[in-house]
Amino acid sequence: MVDNHNRTINYLRLSVTDRCNLRCIYCMPDEGIVFTPHSEILTYEEMIHIVKLSVSNGIRKIRLTGGEPLVRRDILGFIQKLQQIDEIEEITLTTNGVLLKDFARGLRECGMRRINISMDTLRRDRFYQITRRDFFDRVWEGIDEAESLGFDPIKINVVAMRGVNDDEIVDFAKLTFNKPYHVRFIEIMPFGKDNGNGWARDRFISVGEILDRIRSLGEVNPVGYSLLGGPAQRYRLEGAAGEVGFIGALSNHFCATCNRLRLTSCGQLRGCLFSDEETDLKTPLRTGGDDDSLLRLIETTIRNKPKEHGMGLWEPRKCVRPMNRIGG
Ligand code: 5AD
Ligand code: SF4
Repeated sequence: MVDNHNRTINYLRLSVTDRCNLRCIYCMPDEGIVFTPHSEILTYEEMIHIVKLSVSNGIRKIRLTGGEPLVRRDILGFIQKLQQIDEIEEITLTTNGVLLKDFARGLRECGMRRINISMDTLRRDRFYQITRRDFFDRVWEGIDEAESLGFDPIKINVVAMRGVNDDEIVDFAKLTFNKPYHVRFIEIMPFGKDNGNGWARDRFISVGEILDRIRSLGEVNPVGYSLLGGPAQRYRLEGAAGEVGFIGALSNHFCATCNRLRLTSCGQLRGCLFSDEETDLKTPLRTGGDDDSLLRLIETTIRNKPKEHGMGLWEPRKCVRPMNRIGG
């Protein structure tokens, strides 16, 4: 389906839980987080119902997010059910990697081919500082396992933070010489209460600056740009096995080619990560609303997808809902 700004919307990001086994500094406070009670989270059946309806509105690709999607019970069973929906061409996952070693084979057996792993550091002590948990080795074991099982591509998402991990930008890029990974540097975005604007602004480092630093390693050549390929600008270092990519939510305005829709774990449909406009699908689902009215709600949300997020670096709007509820 095409929205009011002539964008084809075919990609649904599905947040299956707001829970997580890490506490990343840019996402959650360490303590005092109130997770949504299970009864308020959509059941798998409810999610399948919404996915089936959204398929008739043109959704063809699904990404599972969280929180951490692998912490939700029987996630593999859910993926298998999604797989049975014929029109869905691809199902992928964004994970923090903590449980990946245990799940990689099952995911592969469900037909998953590609995977995104969030990993912001190559150093164990720093992993603890960023995520407040001691799972560094487990994540790297998970990445190794995914590689040996043939996931392709393996995308590694690195949130770049000045004064936190920016001294590792070049090391991450070097990793692509020998490994086939797509390392993607993400500009930090202002979210939530405890890690609000001031924090993110101090840490912000633009994709332009990141690219400049990587140029010290050699020639960086652009890799074919595809309109459906998502918001990353992709490059390959001369002679490298993998790629480096850049997701500049604030520097680049990729809103014009945005093809996505998001469903939060509580059943709110969103046109934009940064907008607080949401369509409540859970209430009609749970109070006997018929499929026609649900379909119309989905259609209206797609049609009214915001033109752009309108955030600038110096006056970013605060997103009221924390990241772990929306799913990145
Ligand atoms: N800024 C940028 N990226 C973020 N993520 C979570 N919070 C933020 C933030 N404030 C990223 C995670 C993961 C993806 C789902 O979103 O690191 O890669
Ligand atoms: Fe968990 Fe992802 Fe948030 Fe980190 S950024 S705490 S891994 S949901």
